[in-house]
Amino acid sequence: MVDIFLDTADLSEIRRFSKMGVIDGVTTNPSLIKKVAGVSNARQMEKYIWSIFNSVPGGDVSVEVVSTDRHGMIAEGRKIDELFRDYSDNLLIKIPGTEEGLYATRELSADRLRVNATLIFSPGQALLMAKAGAYCVSTFSGRVNDRIREQMGWGKINDPANAELGKRYHKTSWFPADGWREEGRTDGRVVYIDVPDEGVRIRSGVDLTGQTSAALLNTKTLTLAASLRNAREAVESAIEGAEILTVPPNVLDDMLGLTAHSQVVSGVEAFERDTVPEYRQMFDLTANK
Ligand code: G3P
Repeated sequence: MVDIFLDTADLSEIRRFSKMGVIDGVTTNPSLIKKVAGVSNARQMEKYIWSIFNSVPGGDVSVEVVSTDRHGMIAEGRKIDELFRDYSDNLLIKIPGTEEGLYATRELSADRLRVNATLIFSPGQALLMAKAGAYCVSTFSGRVNDRIREQMGWGKINDPANAELGKRYHKTSWFPADGWREEGRTDGRVVYIDVPDEGVRIRSGVDLTGQTSAALLNTKTLTLAASLRNAREAVESAIEGAEILTVPPNVLDDMLGLTAHSQVVSGVEAFERDTVPEYRQMFDLTANK
């Protein structure tokens, strides 16, 4: 079954969804921690991250390194493991999918640490991280769509010259998984991002996840769909083979909205209406039988 991680460092959101039983872990990165932590020293930061582990009992928590060279990443990965040793079974160390990151992944994986290779934008990059021993690779779905929108001239949402397009194509808007067909075109042209050195074309974030998952089929490495911006993109990523989705709280709230579908509501009402007294009495715990 697909795992769902919460893409946030916000403790109250983690606790809320953890209690609901719908999350299997948490992914953090320096940008997410910057948004919420509000701590004033390293010891408090460490405690804050402990609280994340405690808020999702038994779940996997990704913690990212900040160095960009292999030696720094390896040292930081080991330090993260030492700091959170009590939770080592649940720790994932996030390493960027760079060339230096390959060396770091190889070293840390050889130490039996689980690496979440992050910032994955092409299946070939993912394959290399898998060869180096990554436990999972994080495909940055939404950012691929951002890039296509930019190429189409829709990217500058705050640019007054693009105000109308910005309204129509906000970065959280759904983006077609099989590529964008321009409205009004009769030639059915689909806009692709080319990744020429790999011999594959990436048509959307979901396409990146699907191709990555297919490329990793014969490896042990899992595909984790990240940078997800709406419920539909999350579901499509699962359909395309992602074993893990990491979704921010607002996207999980969107998914929660699916439980209030009008046919769910009317279905519940109909069952209530149809309930005969004898059936209801069966559930009366105070009744003498
Ligand atoms: O897990 C990666 C994620 O945090 C990046 O998301 O929305 O900044 O592209 P985003």
